[in-house]
Amino acid sequence: FEVLWDAAAADKGGWPSFMAKEVSEEPEAVANTLRGRMRDGQVVIPELDGLDGLFAGITRIIVIACGTAAYAGMVGKYALEQWTRVPVDVELAHEFRYRDPVIGADTLVVSISQSGETMDTLMAVKYARERGAKTLSICNTQGATIPRESDAIVYTHAGPEVAVASTKAFVAQITALYLLALHIGRVRGSLSPTEAAQQVLELEAIPDKITRILHLEQARIEQFAAWMADTRSVLFLGRHVGYPIALEGALKLKEISYIHAEGFAAGELKHGPIALIEPGQPVFVIVPSPRESALLHSKVVSNIQEIRARGARVIAVAEEGDAAVLPFADEVLRIPLAGPLFEPLLAVVPLHIFAMGLATAKGLDVDQPRNLAKSVTVE
Ligand code: G6P
Repeated sequence: FEVLWDAAAADKGGWPSFMAKEVSEEPEAVANTLRGRMRDGQVVIPELDGLDGLFAGITRIIVIACGTAAYAGMVGKYALEQWTRVPVDVELAHEFRYRDPVIGADTLVVSISQSGETMDTLMAVKYARERGAKTLSICNTQGATIPRESDAIVYTHAGPEVAVASTKAFVAQITALYLLALHIGRVRGSLSPTEAAQQVLELEAIPDKITRILHLEQARIEQFAAWMADTRSVLFLGRHVGYPIALEGALKLKEISYIHAEGFAAGELKHGPIALIEPGQPVFVIVPSPRESALLHSKVVSNIQEIRARGARVIAVAEEGDAAVLPFADEVLRIPLAGPLFEPLLAVVPLHIFAMGLATAKGLDVDQPRNLAKSVTVE
């Protein structure tokens, strides 16, 4: 008689993989990152107490990160610009310091790193500091190197992430960026308390909405992913905040299922990628809410029509009740209603489930994909 037990399996809390466990923890990752940072409908980040000077004189923000964290940064750009009115650039950390960037005391460099140890990101932060920029780190690991090298820290509270492909940390990073944007908006007076309070309500509603996707859609998406296990290439299209989500959906699929996947800005389709569309090509399309922006929505729906006419198999990620996509989509993955900037926190969830479902169906180790490391501590 042998007791079949090992420590790693125990840590998975009954889930088949760490990734499955971590996707299930996406609601908590957001909720825990929000906790203690809102007071009377306003965002107040205790770690930034007494650091208003960091935001007062800045004329630009540069977000630096690698991998999934960089896509979180791309999502954050929309909220940072909208709520702070400071121009924002997002750069891959390893590109940043090799091009003599124009930075100085008026620049806030925001780094994002789950591990806080990614060498490319660390070197970029050090470089920015040496050039006199102000540095703020968004990090999931207490006491890691990157936050120690930064002027300020906003921790994400996603809890330890073990699977190499980042999932719950991604939603926590977007949450932290939104909190930061609301905090800076308040400090700089670029956002009225009423507007800020509306955004806070939206943020607070996100964890339950993610839970709803997991309950209503996870099993169906996994089945659908298993059915697509032989697919050789998948494309992802998104517009506005849906664009970085398309990139993240493609990255996740590459990382763990070794399938060729590419994300595109939907508007760019006609400038090249549409040449890739042939009959049967699966294309995920992140559809913006028709309630919030009829114009954006109609543009994405016409993109869907264009690829559908060329034989693409369309998988739409669309909000509940959006009937406009039904005639053109082979599959519709539903997300609850949310304000436009908050849709990424929901739309990414089906894509994480899909990548995990497909890799699992192929019999791959979703936690330890080949050639990748959780934390890359070399340049
Ligand atoms: C590695 C991981 C990715 C991660 C990236 C950035 O490449 O495989 O999943 O997104 O590093 O990691 P960081 O810890 O800096 O967020």
